[in-house]
Amino acid sequence: MRLAAVILAAGEGTRMKSSRPKVLHPVCGVPMVLWSVQSAKELGAEPIVLVVGNGAEAVKEVVGDQVLYALQAQRLGTGHATLQARELLQGRAEVVLVLYGDMPNLRVETLARLYALHRERKPAITLLSVLSEDSMGFGRVVRDEAGRVREIVEEAVATPEILAIKELNCGVYCFDAEWLWAHLPLVPMTQPKGEYYLTDTVGLAIKEGRPVEVVTITDVSEVQGINNRVHLARSERALRERILERLMLEGVTVTDPASTYVEASVRVGRDTVIHPNTYLQGQTVIGERCTIGPNSLVRDTRIGDDCQVLFSVLEEAVVEHRVRIGPFAHLRPGAHLGDEVHMGNFGEVKNAYLAPGVKMGHFSYVGDAHVGEGANIGAGVVTCNYDGRRKHRTVIGEGAFIGSGAMLVAPVKVGRKAKIGAGAVVTHDVPDLTLAYGVPARPQRRLDDEAEDHEPE
Ligand code: UD1
Ligand code: MG
Repeated sequence: MRLAAVILAAGEGTRMKSSRPKVLHPVCGVPMVLWSVQSAKELGAEPIVLVVGNGAEAVKEVVGDQVLYALQAQRLGTGHATLQARELLQGRAEVVLVLYGDMPNLRVETLARLYALHRERKPAITLLSVLSEDSMGFGRVVRDEAGRVREIVEEAVATPEILAIKELNCGVYCFDAEWLWAHLPLVPMTQPKGEYYLTDTVGLAIKEGRPVEVVTITDVSEVQGINNRVHLARSERALRERILERLMLEGVTVTDPASTYVEASVRVGRDTVIHPNTYLQGQTVIGERCTIGPNSLVRDTRIGDDCQVLFSVLEEAVVEHRVRIGPFAHLRPGAHLGDEVHMGNFGEVKNAYLAPGVKMGHFSYVGDAHVGEGANIGAGVVTCNYDGRRKHRTVIGEGAFIGSGAMLVAPVKVGRKAKIGAGAVVTHDVPDLTLAYGVPARPQRRLDDEAEDHEPE
C-alpha cells in the first residue's frame, strides 16, 4: 500500500505573538514543522503535502522541495485544510496520514502503530486517541455501548456527559485515501465559525457502516500541540529529555540533563562525558571518551576521540584526536586542530590549521594561517591577518617557536624551527632555523638544527 501524508500547517498561530509563522519556531534547533515532515518521511510517506496559509512563502523557503505545497487561502477548518491536498494526492496513494505541523513531540513509533493497525484492518479511518484527565480543549472520542467509536465531538459543542469523557482525539489519522477524497466534500459546515471539521468524517464513516479503528496512547506530552511560547518551552523540554535519554542509552554520560542542550542532529560517541551548561548544536559529531563542558557551546563541529573541551566555544571547526581545548577558547569557522594540539586560555583560531602537537596556551589569535607540527605559539602572539582592506595568510613552519607578544604581519612566513623573539614585529619572511627579533624583526643568527626541544607551558 502506498502511503502519502498531509501535514496541516495553515493555522495563524496568533497566540505566539510573533512576526514569524508559528511552525517555523525552532524546537531543539529544528523548525517545528520539520519534526512532522521528518516523522512522515521515516514512516515512508511519499509524497508529503504541507498545507500552508499564514506565512506560506517563509515556510516554503525553510522546508524546501522535500514536500509538495497546498495553499489554504482561507482558514476554514481542518476538513477544508485536508481537502486542499486532494488534487495533489488523489490516485497517488492508498493511505493518507494526516498530522499537524505544530505537534513535534509525536513519536514515529506511535505513527507506526497507527499505520500498522490501519494496514491490518483496512477501515475507513484509524485515529489516534489519548487518555487524559486534562481535556486540553481536545475533541472527545464518543463510543457506543459495545465500545465502538461513534463520533468525535468538539469541546465547544459537547454536552456535560460528553465533556466528562477522558478519551481525546489527537487529530492524527490514517485514512483510506479513496474514501477520504470522496467524503471530505460531504463534511457539513459547522457554526458559529463556519468551519469544516475533519473530525466529522468519523460520523460519516459510521453512518455508512464503515469501521473506524483507534490506537490509544497515554503519554499526553506526545500530542500537546504548540499554540504559545509556554507550550513551546514545554515541548522543547520534553524533546530535549528524549534526545539526552537516547544519548545516555547509547553510552554517553550526561552529568546534569536539566542543564544540557543537545540538538537532535548531534552524534556523540561512547564514554564521552557532557558536563552542565553545555550546548551541542547542528551537525556536530563528537567521538569517544571526550569530556565536553562545563559551560561550552559546540556548533557544526567535528571532534575526534579523547578530546577535552572546557569552558569554550567551537563553531564550524574540526578537531582531531587527543586535543585539549580551553579553558576559554574560541574556535571559529575553518579552525582545524590536529592531533594532540593544545589551545586555550583566551585563544582564538579562525580559518587556520594547527598541525599535530601545536601548543597555543595563552591569549593568542591565529587566523588565516597554517601552523606546522609541534610549533609553539607564545603568550599573546597575534597573526595580523587584516591590513584594513584584505585578509592575508601566515605560514609558520614546523617546530617554530614564536616568542610572547610577537606580531606576525601577514602575508608572512616563518621558517621551520625558526625562533621569533618576544615582542618582535615580523614584517618579512624569516628563513628556516633562524633567530629573528626586534621591531621590525631582523634575522640575527642561524640556529643549530639539533637545538633542544622546547618545553612550553
Ligand atoms: C483539532 C480537532 C480536535 C482535536 C485537536 C487535537 C478538528 C475539528 N478538531 O482541534 O478534535 O482534539 O485538533 O489537537 O479537527 N489548521 C489548518 N487550517 C485550518 C484549521 C487548522 O491548517 O483551517 C491546522 C492548524 O494549523 C493546526 C491543526 O490544523 O496545526 C489543528 O488545528 P487546531 O485549530 O489546533 O484544531 P483544534 O480546533 O484545536
Ligand atoms: Mg489545537
